[in-house]
Amino acid sequence: MKLLVCGGAGFIGSNFARVRTRENGDDVVVLDKLTYAGRRENLADVPHEFVHGAIEDPDAVREAIAGADAVVNFAAETHVDRSIAEPDAFVRTHSQGTYVLLEAAREAGVRYLQVSTDEVYGSIEEGSFTEQSPLQPSSPYSATKAGADLLVASYFHTFGLETVICRGSNNYGPYQYPEKLIPLMVLNALHGDKLPVYGDGQQVRNWLYVEDFARGIGHALEHGVPGEVYNVGGPDEEANLDVVRRIVSLTGNDESLIEYVTDRPGHDRRYSLGSEKVRALGWSAQVRFEEGLERTVAWYRDNREWWAPIRSGDYRAYYERQYGRSLG
Ligand code: NAD
Ligand code: TYD
Repeated sequence: MKLLVCGGAGFIGSNFARVRTRENGDDVVVLDKLTYAGRRENLADVPHEFVHGAIEDPDAVREAIAGADAVVNFAAETHVDRSIAEPDAFVRTHSQGTYVLLEAAREAGVRYLQVSTDEVYGSIEEGSFTEQSPLQPSSPYSATKAGADLLVASYFHTFGLETVICRGSNNYGPYQYPEKLIPLMVLNALHGDKLPVYGDGQQVRNWLYVEDFARGIGHALEHGVPGEVYNVGGPDEEANLDVVRRIVSLTGNDESLIEYVTDRPGHDRRYSLGSEKVRALGWSAQVRFEEGLERTVAWYRDNREWWAPIRSGDYRAYYERQYGRSLG
């Protein structure tokens, strides 16, 4: 297949492009705006064509979609804390961007896969979300992602576009921008910087190794039923504080680095995703959290040349604004 991978220079999109070119022999065209989170370096070892542009730009989308058999849309603003500080780009990319892509897919008559998140369901105290759970997003990030999902569904119902939606749980692994919990804590721990835990640290996330998500999306793209939603959840749930403690131990540090800081406004307490439907398509998560976290810590330890320019660049200013202290 020839795939148009929107947002393919980001964390999950680049891992997806790597998996699909290596394991499935797909041709890949990446369309990416290269925001702070998008990096050509993420695709250094992945054969691909690259179109620099935004998904909300019809000209860029028209150029990138030519000859594609399917569109897979990862392009998004993805950090909840940034959506609280500056929601503007979230609305533009998720609403207008998804609309422009859907129109282009409709015109080209190709299958469209929307990469979404468990956060559209909101927080769950007990049990797990199914694809039938109501959408109750809490943050500007998850609310605009939910809006995009509804627009995608409308193109199936109204225009008969072959759409599939994949809702993933929290991903981790190589190439994740260090604003997110796991890479932030790993890099801070490697530098002896404080580890800022929000609130009481008892919030629970359902961790999914990025290559497992990439393969789940591939499964849904090939075998998913048009118009359907597939949850793709990780095998393990873990409280944030326990994740941070594991990172402290894997990096040979001391728990005195942990610092409790002001909680995130509207912070979802727990995510948990039931994935029976995508498992019925033949997918299952292969990497347990303990193993995936070890691999991830090793990757960041071994790939200084990837993160050093990020940590000494814009990320420093972001960190100071967000955490009120400087990185060491
Ligand atoms: P990321 O922030 O690492 O990458 C996003 C990519 O999209 C970047 O390359 C960025 O340059 C690009 N982009 C942003 N706005 C764009 C625009 N308007 N036009 C073109 N490109 C644009 O994000 P990620 O973690 O790789 O997430 C990818 C997708 O997966 C997102 O849709 C996200 O909602 C979803 N998701 C993420 C997680 C997670 O844990 N990270 C979990 C479930 C679902
Ligand atoms: P994050 O990686 O931002 O993902 P999401 O909010 O999409 O789940 O955060 C994961 C969890 O870690 C979430 O409960 C917030 C918490 N967290 C901290 O405690 N400290 C931090 O510095 C960050 C970035 C997140």
